[in-house]
Amino acid sequence: MIVGILGIIFVTCVIIFLTISFYITIFGGGPFVPTPMDAVHKVLKEAGIKKGQKIYDIGAGDGRFLHFAEKDYGAISTGFEVDPFVFLIAKIRQIFWKWKGKIIFGSFFKQNFSKADIIFCYMLPRTMKKFHKTIMAGLKKKTKIVSYTFQIPDLKPSRIIPKKGKISKIFIYEI
Ligand SMILES: C[S@@+](CC[C@H](N)C(=O)[O-])C[C@H]1O[C@@H](n2cnc3c(N)ncnc32)[C@H](O)[C@@H]1O
Repeated sequence: MIVGILGIIFVTCVIIFLTISFYITIFGGGPFVPTPMDAVHKVLKEAGIKKGQKIYDIGAGDGRFLHFAEKDYGAISTGFEVDPFVFLIAKIRQIFWKWKGKIIFGSFFKQNFSKADIIFCYMLPRTMKKFHKTIMAGLKKKTKIVSYTFQIPDLKPSRIIPKKGKISKIFIYEI
C-alpha cells in the first residue's frame, strides 16, 4: 500500500518535472544543460573579471558560474533561474558551495541589469535575439556579455574564443 502511494507520488513528480522542463524548453530560454566545469573556468578566465565586479548569469542553472566567479575572482554574483527544480538544486548547491551571492527564482526578462559589469549567458540563439532586443538598451557602457556556445544574432562580438576540445566557442561582446 505505502509502496503504491510512494510510486504514485514519484510518477506525479516526474510528470510535473517533465512538463515544466518541456514548457521552459519551448517557451523559456532553453533547457537545463550545465556547462562542463572545464568550460566554466575557461569562460570565467576569458571574461577578465575584476574583484568586486557585479556579474550576472541570466539562466543560472545550478549556479556554477556564480559560485566560481565569486570564489576565484571575488565577483558579486547574481543569477536568475526559471525552472523550480533547477532553482532548488542551485539553492542546495549554494549551501554546500557556500557562495554568498543571490540566485533569484524567475525569468531574467524584465529584470534590471543596469548595474551589471559582466553578464554570462548560455542560452539558445532565439533567446539571445530576444535578449538583444529587450535587455541590451538598459545596460551601462562597457558592460561585457559573455556567451557560451551561442552567438547573439545581428551583433558583432569583440572577441571569439575558438572551440578547443570539449570546450565550445565563447563569444565576448562589449557595449
Ligand atoms: C543551458 S542552461 C545553462 C545553465 C548554467 N548557466 C550553466 O552554464 O551551467 C540554461 C538555464 O537557463 C534557464 N532558463 C531558461 N529560460 C530562462 C529564463 N527566461 N529566465 C531564467 N532562466 C531561464 C534554464 O532553466 C536552464 O537552467
